[in-house]
Amino acid sequence: MVEVKVWDPVVRICHWFTVTVVLINSTILDEGSIHEFLGYSVAVLLVVRVVWGFIGSRYARFSTFFPTRAKLKEHVSELISASKPSKSKLADNHANLGHNPLGALMIFNLLLTLAVICLTGHFMTTDYFWGSETMEDIHEVFVTYLLVSVAVHVAGVLIESFRARTNLISAMVTGKKKLN
Ligand code: HEM
Ligand code: HEM
Repeated sequence: MVEVKVWDPVVRICHWFTVTVVLINSTILDEGSIHEFLGYSVAVLLVVRVVWGFIGSRYARFSTFFPTRAKLKEHVSELISASKPSKSKLADNHANLGHNPLGALMIFNLLLTLAVICLTGHFMTTDYFWGSETMEDIHEVFVTYLLVSVAVHVAGVLIESFRARTNLISAMVTGKKKLN
């Protein structure tokens, strides 16, 4: 068993804080000043995460896990042939030790969707869009799209945890990935 440190505290704090706020803002507090304050704090963390994607630790950097066509093709054919990534491959291939290519696509989708939600939420507070039903509808449609994406994201995390035989959820909590 080898333990590799992959997720630094910035990545983990941004992740779990965002998860908590999304759950609160889309259920119990779906309007009001606390909703707006929590939403803006997600927006701040989004900016922090994007900056961190350029200057952060190795596995946090976008350049480490950017899903190119070649990486996606290789990953999908690995999934189709149902092969488990070998330990040597995980050890050599730092892209797969961090986010895998399909996971990375989902991450960009989640970050962009969150940005649109925060922007449309902010627009509703401006004079121009004050009381705009359209803006509220767009905000809500993107929240629904986010929640569907999150369901796919969590399913992907569970499937990949079984396939690669490593608990990805505990890795996002402790920062360390255990490789058997
Ligand atoms: C509102 C809900 C969620 C959002 C917006 C979200 C978003 C994200 C984002 C943006 C990342 C990339 C992390 C980074 O590099 O900064 C990520 C990774 C991850 N998320 Fe979530 N997430 C959500 C819910 C969850 C839940 C409920 C779980 C666990 C059950 C989970 C488990 C993970 C794991 C394990 C990773 C790392 C995946 C890997 O090893 O490549 N997420 N998530
Ligand atoms: C994590 C991000 C966010 C999530 C998940 C979220 C979710 C939601 C949901 C589910 C609604 C209810 C929509 C409806 O009933 O039509 C809503 C409404 C609203 N949100 Fe957000 N929101 C977020 C961020 C923001 C931000 C950053 C702002 C900016 C100030 C904001 C401002 C509003 C406003 C003004 C409403 C309309 C309340 C009303 O008049 O009924 N939201 N949001």
